[in-house]
Amino acid sequence: MKSAVVSVVALLVILVAWPVSAGGYGGDDNDDIKSWFPLDNLLELDYYDKICPNFEKIVDNKVREWTKTDASLGPALLRLVFHDCGVTGCDASVLLDHEGSERRAPASKTLRGFEIIDDIKSALEKSCPGLVSCADILISASRAATVQLGGPYWSNAYGRRDSKTSYARDVEKVPSGRRDITALLETFQSYGLNILDLVVLSGAHTIGKANCGTIQSRLYNFNATKGSDPSIDPKLADYLRRKCRWASETVYLDAVTPVAFDNQYYKNLQKNMGILTTDQELVKDPRTGPLVKAFAEQPPQMFRQQFAVSMAKLVNIGVLTGEDRIGEIRKVCSKSNSRRY
Ligand code: HEM
Repeated sequence: MKSAVVSVVALLVILVAWPVSAGGYGGDDNDDIKSWFPLDNLLELDYYDKICPNFEKIVDNKVREWTKTDASLGPALLRLVFHDCGVTGCDASVLLDHEGSERRAPASKTLRGFEIIDDIKSALEKSCPGLVSCADILISASRAATVQLGGPYWSNAYGRRDSKTSYARDVEKVPSGRRDITALLETFQSYGLNILDLVVLSGAHTIGKANCGTIQSRLYNFNATKGSDPSIDPKLADYLRRKCRWASETVYLDAVTPVAFDNQYYKNLQKNMGILTTDQELVKDPRTGPLVKAFAEQPPQMFRQQFAVSMAKLVNIGVLTGEDRIGEIRKVCSKSNSRRY
């Protein structure tokens, strides 16, 4: 009981200390969301209302169709948006598919969901030719996937343009699963995101899977010990060692409630059941540990609401807009209109 009170107090202090998160969350409270962003004059909540009124409906239906056939594509879309926004901003640079592009970098090897974006783009080119950017499609599709997975809703403002370039070397900006917390914090700060956003957005790992290749170094011969990382719960370590002999195998990131968009991820971290090193480090570090504890001990709604707030910030990182005339509306999401292949 005492620890629950401490965690509520910790969370309240944090919410007050970071005013960016204190104004509300998703839902229809658009004014609150808009006031948080310095870029709010550039993107518009009603951007497609007149020029492509069925935009979100088309996206929603397509995501539903695809995930009905393969449910694992939902988490893949949510991850894809992080890998787009985390590298040169939310400009669809991750979708360009040519030699030397982000998508072809070794670190992007396990990204998936590109075919859904291509399919949505073809449908939109039929209904609203030349109007909807791939960057906006990706943002909208990631929210549709999140909501369809039972996650929270947030309001998206639109009007992003697509980048004309994409470089594999820039992919280093997205953190791998083996960074320390200081490096993660620095990366998030470079996005304009704070420590609360880091802990909350890591909560996306309440759904989806990791490839065993990503975690094998924690399981076999950890630090040349021939054993597994001692910070993993022994039962879980046992299971993972049996499951992960092949790098191409996959394991759920939330071993307890793998398909529920809940706060179990944080409870797992408290029991040394984080799958990625970066996940488990969140509970150990004195800067992030109190937040993990708060999200673990509070009702899941607290996490879900804050997740919507942080996602609404993530999807506005480094956008290209009509104001600066940089970028384009691609005809095909995997190719720049101006590039010859
Ligand atoms: C805090 C820094 C983060 C790190 C270090 C990180 C790292 C990773 C890694 C290593 C994987 C497994 C990849 C694989 O083995 O195939 C993964 C999966 C995933 N990540 Fe993150 N991630 C971070 C933040 C985020 C954010 C901000 C989001 C979205 C808001 C996100 C959403 C996901 C999802 C949904 C999956 C599962 C994908 C699938 O099932 O296909 N991650 N992440």
